[in-house]
Amino acid sequence: MRVLVTEPLPGKGIELLSSRYEVTVGNRGDYDDESRLRKAVSPYHALLTCLSNPVTRNVLEAAPNLKIVSNYAVGYNNIDVEAAKGRGILVANTPDVLTEATADCAFALLLGIGRQLRDAEDQLRSGNFDGWHPFGFLGTELHGKKAGIIGMGRIGRAFARRAQGFGMSVLYHNRTRLNRETETKLNARYVDNVDDLVSTADVLSIHCPLTPETRHLINNERLSMMKPDAIIINTARGPVIDEQALATALHDHRIGGAGLDVFEKEPEVHPDLLTAPNCMLLPHIGSANRETRSRMSALAASSIISHLEGKSDHAIPTLVFQR
Ligand code: NAP
Ligand code: GLV
Ligand code: GLV
Repeated sequence: MRVLVTEPLPGKGIELLSSRYEVTVGNRGDYDDESRLRKAVSPYHALLTCLSNPVTRNVLEAAPNLKIVSNYAVGYNNIDVEAAKGRGILVANTPDVLTEATADCAFALLLGIGRQLRDAEDQLRSGNFDGWHPFGFLGTELHGKKAGIIGMGRIGRAFARRAQGFGMSVLYHNRTRLNRETETKLNARYVDNVDDLVSTADVLSIHCPLTPETRHLINNERLSMMKPDAIIINTARGPVIDEQALATALHDHRIGGAGLDVFEKEPEVHPDLLTAPNCMLLPHIGSANRETRSRMSALAASSIISHLEGKSDHAIPTLVFQR
């Protein structure tokens, strides 16, 4: 069996695969281009892909031997799942193992913006720290504020636990309401209407997947509903927020701030965001800690091994659909 791992990965994943199959490892970025990936795929039985690889219908149609695409990410909006389903190709992702890391990253952005950490550090490093100042870098208190979570799945709930620990109250929106027990445990209140959540939250944190329904879920209209001091955090996918509208809202000081780990057209960052006030920008590092990336690698490889060894779909918990 032949496996293509589109670029080098941390952890044991490649080793696990290489001890069983003929493995080719691409160079970083080689397969971020649809036509290059399409040209390469035909000999492979399995692909271990990154979120920057466009696994489109075109690519899948050029892969007659392909049985499984295992994405080194929990989000799988880079894969045409319907096309895969139609061809009997399985799709797997890396849920759970990156939940805490990504929620940490979202909270780091919140603290970074809430307490103006980047601007404060810049002042010090530029030699302008002139001692404690009564008016220096006045941020906002999180304790007692309302955290509004859109997408109360694994990472949304991990964010909720952190918010609870910081003395915040938690509101959330999901298409499906959580059961009462989980709501009670997280001390979280369901808000059926996204507009109500957006207009009530002091902190709005995005944790839903990118789907046709969530593209530009946060648009100019919703940004205009936000409280003037509210902070928006996005560690989900860039296109969930209309970036131009967000940049304009920040420049006009219509919202309090934004912390972003993801962008509409990665790796491009909208130039108006780069100059926006009260904005912290990270290069998509949500899951980036050694332990997490290592677990992701082993998990992505193990999904491929389980499937190629003939395990039933039900025995592979990372599949995004069962055939
Ligand atoms: P998850 O457990 O599937 O949670 C996603 C939640 O979003 C679910 O509760 C889902 O519930 C909800 N949802 C789906 N469509 C929605 C909609 N239209 N409106 C409101 N809520 C909606 O996924 P996860 O593991 O928490 O990951 C969430 C996302 O984070 C991933 O898809 C990925 O894009 C992103 N991510 C980014 C990084 C990073 O490096 N920055 C790292 C990991 C993950 P319902 O279906 O019931 O609505
Ligand atoms: C990262 O963005 C992921 O979806 O795992
Ligand atoms: C500040 O440093 C304080 O002691 O209040």
